[in-house]
Amino acid sequence: MPVSNAAAAVSSMDFKKCRKFHVFLVLALVFVISCSVSYKWSISGRRQEAVRGKVTILVWHWPFGNISTLQKDECWDSYHVPGCNLVDNRSLLSQADVVVYHNRELQNGVSKLPLDLPRPPAQKWVWLSLESPSNNGDLRQYGGLFNWTMTYQSDADICLPYGELIPRTTKGNYTIPAKQTLACWVVSNFQSSQKRSEVYMSLKNLIPVEVYGHWANKPLNDEQVLPIISQCYFYLAFENSVYRDYITEKLWYNAFLAGTVPVVLGPPRANYEAYIPKDSFIHVDDFASITELATFLNELASDKERYNSYFRWRSDYYVKIFHSWSEEFCKICKIYERLPPRKIYDDLDSWSRHEP
Ligand SMILES: *[C@@H]1O[C@H](CO)[C@@H](O)[C@H](O)[C@H]1NC(C)=O
Ligand SMILES: *[C@@H]1O[C@H](CO)[C@@H](O)[C@H](O)[C@H]1NC(C)=O
Ligand SMILES: *[C@@H]1O[C@H](CO)[C@@H](O)[C@H](O)[C@H]1NC(C)=O
Repeated sequence: MPVSNAAAAVSSMDFKKCRKFHVFLVLALVFVISCSVSYKWSISGRRQEAVRGKVTILVWHWPFGNISTLQKDECWDSYHVPGCNLVDNRSLLSQADVVVYHNRELQNGVSKLPLDLPRPPAQKWVWLSLESPSNNGDLRQYGGLFNWTMTYQSDADICLPYGELIPRTTKGNYTIPAKQTLACWVVSNFQSSQKRSEVYMSLKNLIPVEVYGHWANKPLNDEQVLPIISQCYFYLAFENSVYRDYITEKLWYNAFLAGTVPVVLGPPRANYEAYIPKDSFIHVDDFASITELATFLNELASDKERYNSYFRWRSDYYVKIFHSWSEEFCKICKIYERLPPRKIYDDLDSWSRHEP
């Protein structure tokens, strides 16, 4: 051993030399020890990586046909998610750890499940949808096929809300856009039987409501939506159907991002408050009648201080909107280790409709 040789050499040296040599010896020892430790670490690190490997996520078809061009290492290059192999080449089916199926294209026949091909026992099939149960079609045919769900619902395995509030690290200074119009609504598909249509019909007899969208023959393009809605005191963020957690871009994009105060119609107030501050919105259910709601909106618009208080939360949070499908798919890798290793949705239809 070099250490014992060195120790023997020390005894034959004078004191001064010895001290210098002593320092050298300690440094050499530290060097040897640290080298062997880091060697061990690097071996175990490499071994771990080999065991864990990359997680391969296969997108069976792109949602709504919006094909994304994937980079070689999309998740790392675009979103800094390591160890995530996002692919859309179906010939990789047998190698995929996770296969994602967007419900819309399964329902309309654009795509179908590869039930005729062998399915590796550890492979997870993900059922993806952002629609409410009213617009998902018939899910009874999918019992016992999927392992994980990816939806807006809070009890989905992979939650995909339409938006979220991110706490600011330093207090922000939000400027409320100038207001002109009392209430606005964008609607493309008006169905008189929907609850939101009834509320609108009553409300428009009491206060002015500017309506945009195809139904009103005033369609707005992507560049027009935010600037136009930003001039409204209130935005009618009325959901097309009422389900727990079904809080869509009508709130996140049309109201919050535009910089207006949402009047919401959807799940109960308590459900909204799980996502957004209680003083950031007005709930239709807060009022005993539509007349009371109309009176309140009129009063609030003319009380500047009180109206502005609905924007106070914006100094502590900013709004993050659902951004891109590939970003959301890469996020599956981030939580992969925490997702249930064994799971089967025997009755997907009931699961999607159940109340907590
Ligand atoms: C898909 O993968 C197969 C096998 O790896 C390969 O031969 C084929 O060129 C790929 N297709 C595309 C469109 O990249
Ligand atoms: C926010 O902006 C307003 C107007 O620009 C300014 O008067 C105020 O001091 C700012 N507040 C903070 C906390 O930066
Ligand atoms: C995934 O679901 C399939 C179909 O129900 C099932 O056969 C398989 O065992 C499940 N896999 C896991 C790992 O839970």
